[in-house]
Amino acid sequence: MDFTDPFVGRARRTLSDAELAQAIRLDMAAELDAINLYQAHLEATDNPVARRVIQHIMEEEKEHLVEFAQLLYQLDPIQAEHAAEAAREFAEAGGEAEEAVTEPAPAAGVSSAPTGLTVGSLRT
Ligand SMILES: [Fe+2]
Repeated sequence: MDFTDPFVGRARRTLSDAELAQAIRLDMAAELDAINLYQAHLEATDNPVARRVIQHIMEEEKEHLVEFAQLLYQLDPIQAEHAAEAAREFAEAGGEAEEAVTEPAPAAGVSSAPTGLTVGSLRT
């Protein structure tokens, strides 16, 4: 089983930000799969303890998904711009955009954009 090999999934070298962004997209897909899996498990049991535990874990996966999205926006400013544009379009359609999703905060240890440079300023 691949999961028992401690070297599975380890990069053989340091990734560029573009490569890391690609890996983060895969991580996001895994989070979505986990959310759907846990939802299916919730729907398949009446055990109250199991339901509470699974619900809690599923909610954490939802947080992880958003955290990965924020990291992705740091690594891929073009994707951040698409997210900002999508949020504007969503708001125009009557949805309520989450500010935190459209305006990424600098991650710990990651330098922020130069002063005066925002996601919106990347538009041409
Ligand atoms: Fe997770």
